[in-house]
Amino acid sequence: MELLKEKIRQEGHVLNDKVLKVDSFLNHQIDPELMMAIGEEFARRFADTGVTKVLTIESSGIAAALTAALKLNVKVVFARKKKSALMNEEAYVTQVHSFTKNETNEVTVLKKFLGAGEKILIIDDFLANGEAAMGLARIVEQAGSEVVGIGIVIEKAFQDGGKRLRESGFRVESLARIATFAGGEVQFAEECVK
Ligand code: G4P
Ligand code: NA
Ligand code: NA
Repeated sequence: MELLKEKIRQEGHVLNDKVLKVDSFLNHQIDPELMMAIGEEFARRFADTGVTKVLTIESSGIAAALTAALKLNVKVVFARKKKSALMNEEAYVTQVHSFTKNETNEVTVLKKFLGAGEKILIIDDFLANGEAAMGLARIVEQAGSEVVGIGIVIEKAFQDGGKRLRESGFRVESLARIATFAGGEVQFAEECVK
């Protein structure tokens, strides 16, 4: 997605060989026009999948998930990372470990917002090791629903999340794929590998 790549070139900061800072339009301040274009692009790419609900995880996945859901005319649910006070019978729960942050979160979705037989589009802002997306997919499976696609705003193709998800059979569409941050510069890979 050229508009997104241009924004990354202009406003992204390579922090080190693994992390891209994009807090001026995605992770802290949000650019609504760009976010609408991102939602439109996800809706276009997953138009043939019969999505009935969008699922993301708080917090930075929510904006892109919202605009995608708006364009797909479905509701969006965000999984929560804080341990819920609710009993397990009322919520789907899974552990998600972040290698980037070296922490494990107990991710929960209330059962009443994710029924069986849904066609779920998972959306997230970054794809690194794929732990968050795998966790969301486990929750969808627990609910007896189907993951029809995984939409990612920025995929770091040099980490193995994309490979893991695609090898697990998921259709992954990333709007920007980064091959490397070598020399402090963002180098893009080809966008989408099914
Ligand atoms: P994974 O799910 O693919 O395994 O990713 P990982 O655990 O490594 O990511 C942990 C957090 O770090 C996620 O945010 C993710 O979006 C973010 N992240 C990973 N790589 C980058 C990067 O290069 N740049 C930026 N800006 N963020 C990155 P989170 O903890 O869920 O926080 P939130 O932003 O959604 O609140
Ligand atoms: Na994030
Ligand atoms: Na995220």
